[in-house]
Amino acid sequence: MHTLTVAAPSHSYPIFIGQNLLAGLAGHIRPYIGKKAAVITNETVAPLYLAAVQTALDELGTEHFAVILPDGEQFKNWQSLNHIYDKLLENRAERGTTLIALGGGVIGDTAGFAAATYQRGVAVLQIPTTLLAQVDSSVGGKTGVNHPQGKNLIGAFHQPQAVLIDTATLATLPPREFAAGMAEVVKYGLINDPGFFAWLEANRDGIRAHDPALLAEMIAHCCANKAAIVAADEREQGERALLNYGHTFGHALEALTHYNRWKHGEAVAIGSIIATRLGVILGRVSAADAARTAALFAAFDLPATVPADITTAAILDKMQLDKKTRGGTLRLVLPQHFCASGIDSGVPAATIRAAIDACRT
Ligand code: NAD
Ligand code: GLY
Repeated sequence: MHTLTVAAPSHSYPIFIGQNLLAGLAGHIRPYIGKKAAVITNETVAPLYLAAVQTALDELGTEHFAVILPDGEQFKNWQSLNHIYDKLLENRAERGTTLIALGGGVIGDTAGFAAATYQRGVAVLQIPTTLLAQVDSSVGGKTGVNHPQGKNLIGAFHQPQAVLIDTATLATLPPREFAAGMAEVVKYGLINDPGFFAWLEANRDGIRAHDPALLAEMIAHCCANKAAIVAADEREQGERALLNYGHTFGHALEALTHYNRWKHGEAVAIGSIIATRLGVILGRVSAADAARTAALFAAFDLPATVPADITTAAILDKMQLDKKTRGGTLRLVLPQHFCASGIDSGVPAATIRAAIDACRT
C-alpha cells in the first residue's frame, strides 16, 4: 500500500492507495469515521461497491445509511444536493456525521459540497472509483455542483478527512472511462515531470493491461504531484492553475459539442496536444517532443486531432469564456519547456489559430 499526505494549509490528511483496500476497509477508515455515516453513491456504483463499505461500517459499529443518486453529470445539480440534505435531515444526521463519497468525480464533487455546507460543514471521506477521481478530483478539496449556465459554478473548498483508493475498482470501469482518466495522468507529466512522462511511455503496455503494481505506482505518483501543488496553493492563487493544462482548449471543444461527443478527458487530450503544439510554434518544445505527446495520448486510446467539423474561429470564440480570462485577456497554461508548464497571457490569436490548425489531420 502507498500512503501519502496532503499537507494543505487548512487541513492535513492521508491518501491510502492499494489493490483490494475495500476488503479491509474498516481498519483503514476507523480514525476518520464519526458516530454516524452517510454513504453517498449512485445507481451504477452501489451494486458494485456499496456492500463493502456497509460491511466495514457494521464492523466498526457505526450507524449508517446510504443515499443513492441517479448516474450522470446532468445530476450534479442542486436537486441532487437537496436530496442529500433531505436524507441527512430525515436520518437526524448531526455535526458528528461523516459523509462517505463512493464513486467518480460527479459523486465526489456533489457529496463533498453537501459536506461543506450541511450544518456549516461536516467531515467527508473520499473513496474514488474512477481513474479520473483517483488521480485528480478526490484530492485537493474542490467540491461543487453545476449551474444551468455552466459547469462547477457553485462550490466550495472542503478538504476530506482521508482519501482511500482501491485500484481494484478500476476492473469494472468501462474502457472509455479508464482512457479519459489517462488524459489527466499524462497531464501530470506535461505540467512539471519529464521523468514521469518517460515512465508512462516505458510502461504503457503494462498500464494498458491494468498491471496492479503499475497502476498503484502511477496513481500514487499523480496524487503526490497534486498533493504538492495543493500544499503550495490550496485556493488556486497561482500554480494550482497548472492542473488545467489543455483544459481551456478542451472545455471549448466540450462546449461546442454540447458535452455529448467526448468524455472530459478525451477533450483534454486534444487540448493538451494543441497546447504542446503552441509550445512548438513559440520555440519552446521540439517537434519530436510534440509528436511523442500525441503518440502517448493515442497509445492510451485518446483522440489526438481536432475534427474537421469544428472551426478554429469557433474554438477561439468559446475560449474567451474560460475562468482564467482576466479583463478580457486570455490566460493559457502552456509549456515553457517540454514537461514544464507556466501561465502565459497575451499570446496572439494568430499564433493560437496556427496551433489549432496544426492539430488537424
Ligand atoms: P463520473 O463520476 O461521471 O464517472 C464516470 C462513470 O463511471 C459514471 O457512469 C459512473 O457511475 C461510473 N463508475 C464510477 N466508478 C465505477 C466503477 N468502478 N466501475 C464501473 N463504473 C463506474 O465521471 P468522472 O470522470 O469520475 O468525474 C468527472 C467529474 O469530476 C466532473 O463533474 C468534473 O467536473 C469533476 N472533476 C472535479 C475535479 C476536482 O478537483 N474536484 C477535478 C477533475 C474533475
Ligand atoms: N482539477 C483541478 C484542481 O483540482 O485544481
